[in-house]
Amino acid sequence: MRNPLMVGERVYLRAEEPDDALTMASFYAREIDDWTDDYGRYLQSPIAFRKWIDENADTSIPDSLTLQSCLRDTDELIGWVGLFSINYVNGTAETFSYFAPGEWRGKGYGTESKHLLLEYCFDHLQLHILQSYVFGSNERSAAALRRQGYQAAGLLRLDGPRRGKYLDTWVFDIKRDEWIVARDEWKRRRAAS
Ligand SMILES: CC(C)(COP(=O)(O)OP(=O)(O)OC[C@H]1O[C@@H](n2cnc3c(N)ncnc32)[C@H](O)[C@@H]1OP(=O)(O)O)[C@@H](O)C(=O)NCCC(=O)NCCS
Repeated sequence: MRNPLMVGERVYLRAEEPDDALTMASFYAREIDDWTDDYGRYLQSPIAFRKWIDENADTSIPDSLTLQSCLRDTDELIGWVGLFSINYVNGTAETFSYFAPGEWRGKGYGTESKHLLLEYCFDHLQLHILQSYVFGSNERSAAALRRQGYQAAGLLRLDGPRRGKYLDTWVFDIKRDEWIVARDEWKRRRAAS
């Protein structure tokens, strides 16, 4: 493991590094899903990711944070989780996650990484409540959030177009007590399987 911040069973989270930009852009170039964020599927250049990484490292009290999820066995970068709009006074932030298309989705790596992020948010940063947005028909993202303990908080109606149709955006949120229940249940399920 290299510079681990939070360590799970199969993955660990570390800070971004400048050389990650190329890998991150390659994930976007392979994207097959329309619903991964509010703009749908688009190309993102390594230069744009490098700028993002540099900007995140630029301030001593950042208002956003990306943590890279890497395999413990090989150090391979497989995705990332993070926070936008961190408000240290109100104790709030918006969470996000992105895993490489294909082999690193639908196998629990996102959920394992997210539990590490939530532990970091609630137990290290002392945040109070976190939000997450799910665009259009991203059923997998909504299922993953529910499984992690997020609750449905509301709906932004017809919030964005995709393929000629306006679709809703779901808002979810989670408090520490809700996360603890979900994390313990997730651990029980993993141990049983
Ligand atoms: C969303 C994402 C982070 C989830 O991580 P993941 O590791 O793929 O998810 P998991 O394997 O832990 O699955 C979580 C739940 O989704 C369910 N799921 C998996 N694939 C699914 C699909 N295609 N449709 C509906 N549910 C699905 C799983 O069954 C699981 O629920 P369960 O535990 O109740 O069985 C990941 O898929 C991803 O990066 N997707 C692309 C980017 C994205 O959509 N980010 C979120 C933007 S809002």
